[in-house]
Amino acid sequence: MHPIAIIGGTGLTRLSNLEIVRREMVPTPFGEPSGPVIHGRLCDREVMFLARHGYGHTIPPHKVNYRANIWALREIGVRRIVAVAAVGGIRADMAPGHLAIPDQIVDYTYCRDSTFHEGEIGGVVHIDFTEPYDADLRASLLAAGERADIDLRRDGTYAATQGPRLETAAEIDRLERDGCDVVGMTGMPEAALAREVGVPYACCAVVANWAAGRGPGSITMEDIDRHLTKGMDRVAKLLMSWLEHDAGD
Ligand code: HPA
Repeated sequence: MHPIAIIGGTGLTRLSNLEIVRREMVPTPFGEPSGPVIHGRLCDREVMFLARHGYGHTIPPHKVNYRANIWALREIGVRRIVAVAAVGGIRADMAPGHLAIPDQIVDYTYCRDSTFHEGEIGGVVHIDFTEPYDADLRASLLAAGERADIDLRRDGTYAATQGPRLETAAEIDRLERDGCDVVGMTGMPEAALAREVGVPYACCAVVANWAAGRGPGSITMEDIDRHLTKGMDRVAKLLMSWLEHDAGD
């Protein structure tokens, strides 16, 4: 079975049940990944783990080397990526603590290195991105959620914002008019880069807070941390259920 990778976001810098085999710093033509890739075993499967913001959570969303991270995972043979990402909830049923498996993306980021195809070698490349997430991987995560009795939101449009600041209430109103259901800062270009290198990719979004103007008062880091802790317990349960039943490819 081919190894799978989990990219951990805010609140997930390690997988508690992962039996660590070794750590590998993978050099890439695009510079250094956020940290060494952890090779491990979980539920009898070979699982790689990479902390998107570094293991000490020191790399802000706009400074993550998304190209190096995705390149490194592909380089070591990873065939599927599940990206865990903290988000703010816009849609009424995206309350803090809940998990969602988004099915669409609107990209509002800028000034990020967002492609492996810069035009010189290999010419101009336009990937198909109609469905930004891998359908089979999404379906297997949703099935895992059902088996583990986790209350998963089964779809949702992910708005990728630049950060690192949170949004204004008016910006969230605009995102909602655009059809967005959750908002986060790391979904792009990560998803597009995975598509460029042909690695199936899906996102497990963990709602950390109500998006700006959607909850009472301002957004505090304490609230975010509290909801993330609760959400990450559910993520761990989901991943275990997924790995236990996943037949691999
Ligand atoms: N906005 C953007 N990114 C986020 C949020 C948010 O409200 N919460 C967690 N990541």
